[in-house]
Amino acid sequence: MKIIQVEDYHDLSIKAAQHIITKIQNEPDLVLGLATGSTPKGAYKQMINDFQKNNTSYRYVKTVNLDEYVGLAKNDINSYFTFMNEHLFNHIDIPYSQTHIPNGMAKDLQTECNNYDKLIHSLGGIDLQLLGIGHNGHIGFNEPYTSFKTRTHIVKLTSSTRYANERFFQHINEVPKYAITMGIQTILESKQILLLISGKDKRKAVHKLLVEQNMSEEFPASSLYDHPHVTIIADKAALSLT
Ligand code: PGA
Repeated sequence: MKIIQVEDYHDLSIKAAQHIITKIQNEPDLVLGLATGSTPKGAYKQMINDFQKNNTSYRYVKTVNLDEYVGLAKNDINSYFTFMNEHLFNHIDIPYSQTHIPNGMAKDLQTECNNYDKLIHSLGGIDLQLLGIGHNGHIGFNEPYTSFKTRTHIVKLTSSTRYANERFFQHINEVPKYAITMGIQTILESKQILLLISGKDKRKAVHKLLVEQNMSEEFPASSLYDHPHVTIIADKAALSLT
């Protein structure tokens, strides 16, 4: 794992955007795995700035998102569909038809999961997958004790994850209880992975990941140890226990 230490969230966002933009410039038809949550927002903003200033084009890029809540309509303000449109897709030149997010409203969720893996396969796999990490070490919505062999599947969110995401909703009761997520195996099949970690509230997770280095399904991010091309960009606050 390559670790890039940066000063703060602003620097992390610039570095992450540069990493992604360079990749797109070298491979204009890249398959880019995207993430939601607070952490990648700054990087998306920098990508939009770059698009406006330097015209880096996303015309041939294809995207696949990590996850989506079950039971939220696409146009719900808290769906990841809305998040991605607002924070990235509406502001760059990617055709919407080339952006993919699991459908959490699908009638048959299991078929939706199977089809999502088939879709990724049909695109030729993910060239670069962007990840965040949860306080409990989750990646995507793969919560502790998820098998490292999982493909896209339905998960019951832990109460710690639901409380962590409560800030986006009016009330904890509104936070969905289930989600569709790429599985750990699906993520690990990405050719390259870029993990972004910011802030002191992630420092314990970072300590587990970088200092304890114990590979265990109890800590999903430890599945990344065996991946040959993981880059971690972390700020000083996140690294403060290392
Ligand atoms: P965050 O979430 O970026 O909102 O901290 C990361 C995650 O839970 O994977």
